[in-house]
Amino acid sequence: MNKQLIALSINGCSYELAIADNELLLDALRRNLQMTGSKRGCDDSSCGACTVLIDGIPMLSCTLLALACGGREITTVEGVSARGALAAIQKAYGQWGGAQCGFCTPGFMMTLKHLLAVNRNPTEQQIREALSSNLCRCTGYSQMYQALKAAIEAEQTVMAAR
Ligand code: FES
Ligand code: FES
Repeated sequence: MNKQLIALSINGCSYELAIADNELLLDALRRNLQMTGSKRGCDDSSCGACTVLIDGIPMLSCTLLALACGGREITTVEGVSARGALAAIQKAYGQWGGAQCGFCTPGFMMTLKHLLAVNRNPTEQQIREALSSNLCRCTGYSQMYQALKAAIEAEQTVMAAR
């Protein structure tokens, strides 16, 4: 199979990979780089478990050719915590039971990370709309909304103390 060398920037680090023309970003992350946080939850682009940020925008890594991602900044769930410390949303997820089986959690984390980056005080409706492209079969979603609210409050407290 034809492969090309490509430089990918992921979570602030550069990787050079030999990538097949038809290799999806999700597979490149999981197989080539052992970044298995992003999940394949469906085969019809409907679950959001594979969500990563491309230049800060949530996108489905199961629909992107890896070769098309050269020169873009890719953020995966492995890049959510800074220097090994859990981010506010990760802590809140644990406290509020936002994850049960956890399969959907990486995709939700990435969507929530984007939401908090563009809107530090989202309304309930805005949270629900932002999360509408991520599916969870376990939680019933209410714990996730609670976790997000707790994370927002935690971040606002930190910012107010600065
Ligand atoms: S794996 Fe389901 S949307 Fe990508
Ligand atoms: S926690 Fe199981 S699918 Fe969401």
